[in-house]
Amino acid sequence: MSLQIDALGTNPSLRDRRSWRSEGADAEFVAAIEPRRISVFGLGYVGAVSLACLARDGHEMIGVDIDSGKLDLLRKGQAPIVETGIQELMRAVVRGGSVTVTDSVRDAIDSTDVSFVCVGTPAKQNGSQDLTAITRIAEQIGAQLPAKSSRHLIVIRSTVKPGTVQEVIRPALEASSGLQAGRDFSLCFQPEFLREGTSINDYDNPPLTVVGTDDDYAADLLRSLFGHLPCEFIRTSIRTAEMLKYACNAFHAMKVTFANEIGRVSQASGVDPHEVMKLLCMDRQLNISSAYLRPGFAFGGSCLPKDLKALLYLAKNADVDLPMLSGILPSNATHIEHAVEQVLASRHRSIGMLGLSFKAGTDDLRESPLVLMAERFIGKGLQLRIYDPEVNVARLIGANRRFIEESIPHIASLMTDDVADMVREAQVLIVAMRSPEVLAALRAHTRPDQLLIDIVALPAPHAHRARYQGVCW
Ligand SMILES: NC(=O)c1ccc[n+]([C@@H]2O[C@H](COP(=O)([O-])OP(=O)(O)OC[C@H]3O[C@@H](n4cnc5c(N)ncnc54)[C@H](O)[C@@H]3O)[C@@H](O)[C@H]2O)c1
Repeated sequence: MSLQIDALGTNPSLRDRRSWRSEGADAEFVAAIEPRRISVFGLGYVGAVSLACLARDGHEMIGVDIDSGKLDLLRKGQAPIVETGIQELMRAVVRGGSVTVTDSVRDAIDSTDVSFVCVGTPAKQNGSQDLTAITRIAEQIGAQLPAKSSRHLIVIRSTVKPGTVQEVIRPALEASSGLQAGRDFSLCFQPEFLREGTSINDYDNPPLTVVGTDDDYAADLLRSLFGHLPCEFIRTSIRTAEMLKYACNAFHAMKVTFANEIGRVSQASGVDPHEVMKLLCMDRQLNISSAYLRPGFAFGGSCLPKDLKALLYLAKNADVDLPMLSGILPSNATHIEHAVEQVLASRHRSIGMLGLSFKAGTDDLRESPLVLMAERFIGKGLQLRIYDPEVNVARLIGANRRFIEESIPHIASLMTDDVADMVREAQVLIVAMRSPEVLAALRAHTRPDQLLIDIVALPAPHAHRARYQGVCW
């Protein structure tokens, strides 16, 4: 990253200010950004970086915090956080006159059109979120809205769990203002993806800009502020955007832990984990890709469960604890049980399974989660029929045949090749295939009194007449 920060003495023109940016953003677009008056509530890592970068991009900024020490520092042009490049940038934008600070919510709301809320949302002892600061700020902002003659946009940047914006923040804003979100003012959620240490660079080069909102004004205004960034600008629902931030952070934490667990078991086996992980990351088809990242059914087959068990055994013999990798098989079993519970909860007794092998295009039944599920239904005394044209029981051989004979000895009597008849007769359909025959049978032969449990993420989930339920959606 190269920050080009001019040594500014006095108030520069907007055009000058817009030239102090790191590489990445589209310069022409930046020059075309319409200057806005923006307030930022909460001047910690997220708020201070937003304050400085938005000022640099030509906006008139007001920072608000309850910490008078932070406000004093900012008045002197000093950033209240330690971050690469932030001191120079903050000094420049404060001296340039595009940043002022206050502890008055009224002044900040009166003199701006957009407010970014970046206050902390720390974890309580039990892991739940402490929403005290964000609720308080929503009440305070709401109380100022009736005095405004122009429409105000409130952008929540703090990380909050799904439902918080609509069920906590919106009611707090509406109760204290007597106004209605969407009609009288705008509200949206924009997850922040920057990382401490590289936050200015991350601000200018985010992986995505995501805005959760059902409000066109909010989406258009944020596009005008961030549309120049070198990434996709995506509009989605507020709940999706809220969950996305948690999913991203959980994924990052999981990646660190995965690399470290592979490190410990490699160390115990005399293998260089850096070399292993470097090669692992070179596979951009299956490893560093979207492969295996679509919610669906449990994994199975002849390799993943077997090799995972072997790795865990290797670690156990070397006295190496791998809590995360050890949690995978139990989690997979929980997923199968979750699907079984949905079927049992329906109280229907006649079950049709569309698919039996562990994935499409194979007749391999070894460790197929669908076989495990079928065993559970048989154990519960339910009537079961199975359609899977890939599986010809008479032709199964070797370990594949032994596995199914040990799991479901009378499997042949449960199989049918008449998909239409099976779809008509079953009360619950468990759909694990997306073949044209299956999709056509679902379209033609389902009824509203049937339950369809989709475990394969059907391409057109409602192209049938049954009651639809996704396995985890
Ligand atoms: N730090 C990160 O890298 C990062 C990245 C993405 C998202 N987030 C999320 O952004 C939010 C802020 O994180 P942070 O690290 O900047 O927090 P922080 O603790 O550094 O800063 C929060 C600031 O809010 C101020 N504040 C609290 N109550 C206030 C009020 N009523 N009015 C005005 N200011 C108030 C505090 O004084 C503090 O300066 C959190 O929800 C966090 O999870 C953080």
